Amino acid sequence: MCGIIGYVGPREASRVVVEGLRRMEYRGYDSAGVAVVTDGALEVRKKAGKIVNLDAAIAADPLPPTGLGIGHTRWATHGGPTDYNAHPHTSANGRVALIHNGIIENFAPLRAELVAQGVAFTSETDTEVAAQLLGREVEGGADLADAMRSVCRQLQGAFTLVAIDSAEPARLVAARRNSPLVVGLGEGENFVASDVSAFIEFTRHAVELGQDRVVDVTADSFTVTDFDGTPADSHPFEVTWDLSAAEKQGYDWFMRKEIYEQPQAVADTLLGRYNEDGSLKLDELHIPEAELRTIDKIIIVACGTAYYAGMVAKYAIEHWTRIACEVEIASEFRYRDPIITPRTLVVTLSQSGETADTLMAIRHAREQGAKVIAICNTNGATIPRESDAVIYTHAGPEIGVASTKGFLTQVAACYLLGLYLAQVRGTKFGDEIAAIMGELAATPPLIQRVLDEIEPIKQLAAKYAEQKSVLFLGRHVGYPVALEGALKLKEIAYLHAEGFPAGELKHGPIALVENQIPIFVVVPPQGRDQLHDKVTSNIQEVRARGAFTIVLAEDDDEEVIPYADFLFRLPKVSTLMQPLVATVPLQMFACELASLKGYDVDQPRNLAKSVTVE
Ligand code: F6R
Repeated sequence: MCGIIGYVGPREASRVVVEGLRRMEYRGYDSAGVAVVTDGALEVRKKAGKIVNLDAAIAADPLPPTGLGIGHTRWATHGGPTDYNAHPHTSANGRVALIHNGIIENFAPLRAELVAQGVAFTSETDTEVAAQLLGREVEGGADLADAMRSVCRQLQGAFTLVAIDSAEPARLVAARRNSPLVVGLGEGENFVASDVSAFIEFTRHAVELGQDRVVDVTADSFTVTDFDGTPADSHPFEVTWDLSAAEKQGYDWFMRKEIYEQPQAVADTLLGRYNEDGSLKLDELHIPEAELRTIDKIIIVACGTAYYAGMVAKYAIEHWTRIACEVEIASEFRYRDPIITPRTLVVTLSQSGETADTLMAIRHAREQGAKVIAICNTNGATIPRESDAVIYTHAGPEIGVASTKGFLTQVAACYLLGLYLAQVRGTKFGDEIAAIMGELAATPPLIQRVLDEIEPIKQLAAKYAEQKSVLFLGRHVGYPVALEGALKLKEIAYLHAEGFPAGELKHGPIALVENQIPIFVVVPPQGRDQLHDKVTSNIQEVRARGAFTIVLAEDDDEEVIPYADFLFRLPKVSTLMQPLVATVPLQMFACELASLKGYDVDQPRNLAKSVTVE
């Protein structure tokens, strides 16, 4: 949510900054802006809308070639998406330009105080108070870093701030609390950004900062302190992927590319985490086995797609470990006073590792004495840093705002954790664990097969360009798959879409069924419990009321044929593995439909990739 970048070095700063913003545009695209320092003055260009509008503004009024600049791409919180609310914001005295990600919760009293002192504001944002406060401190003679620390001590809420001073052409200062910031270390040049993708073109050497930190950056140095000025540690790390991973490589959308990357992404999640004999090795857990044996409850906490991945995981974890497992929407978690004890294991799922609701849930859980394991895709992000242990999904950068490989790899990582707990606690024998691990390890080529046979789904999407409403049904793990299919359609194709447990139909939702409404049905594998037969009956129920049934069923399932208006074959896998193959056609349907409707698949309206505000 909001992408920010700062650069200091020998290159033309405005170019580096705008290119960095382009790579972070998925974080927010309500407006974009750049500021540089030249001849003791600030030059700012900013525009509402996407970065192309900023490009046009810079082309019409070029920025001078200087080696210091900051830039921002916005997901609006306070104040609409207008030119004047776009960042950077400058202080009324013209001394500083500042960019911000997050929400300054006490901006209203601070603003009132400044207005009473005669400061003229030019925007409706919470950010501008930080710019005005900083400008005043610097004008009063404070060093830029001291001024930033002083401002941070006055602010409440979540913020990453980056500022430059018109009197200092070779230095920038940044700060963070509850919001992401990484430093990129080049040779004779340095970067700060929300996300390493902003500077991966120039360096893979990065530094993560702790909570409540200020970093003072020149072309060849960086100094980290806390908000009181006490020197603080920082943690260097190497980015393991390269620029090509952050580019579209010939695909029309990042989302489509990421859908096609799923076989590899799932394989990478599993890589190195099991032995030849099928036993699990999760060396990174660092929680003693004895402690894992004392756990009496698991709570999975996540948002959106990650929450649905958690819903899938619950079925597997309870089945394998016999530990009660709840799944909770992160934004609801701490407000309901959940029962947490030191024997509770909280598992958080977050692709970005920066989701504010999930982060706050972790803090709440740890305050109550729970152990927290993060399942995350982003190295060095805040959520893994604040957890007791982390299982990285290693899916590579996910840039399309709609999560795809994030979902599959979160499911795979949860399964690894579930099997590991079963192993440690002895609720499954070694050969049972090896057999399940074998099934999991066999899924990447099966996901590939689904992708190889995906063409009919694309053609199906073409039929529904004018459709207003689509329903999705599933049972057991097929239910969260249905929810995920519906979410994808809502967020990128702006369609009314609902997912239901198929058994719930008769209790209300069946009233929505009207002539020719498309209903996707995820059919469980044959031969286990009565799940398959129950879902087959549900297909008949909706078809009898006029629905057009789009049935996802495994190879050799003959029983569904008479009731399927459209049949997509899934590879034969066990019930628990089915989400890893069944979700893929639903993702592709949404991607294709949104694309045909002419929507921006990667940057759907009103959304942002990392939701760093509550
Ligand atoms: C949906 C989507 C969101 C995210 C949710 C959590 O396609 O992308 O629902 O899944 O905002 O994000 P992370 O996983 O980064 O915590």
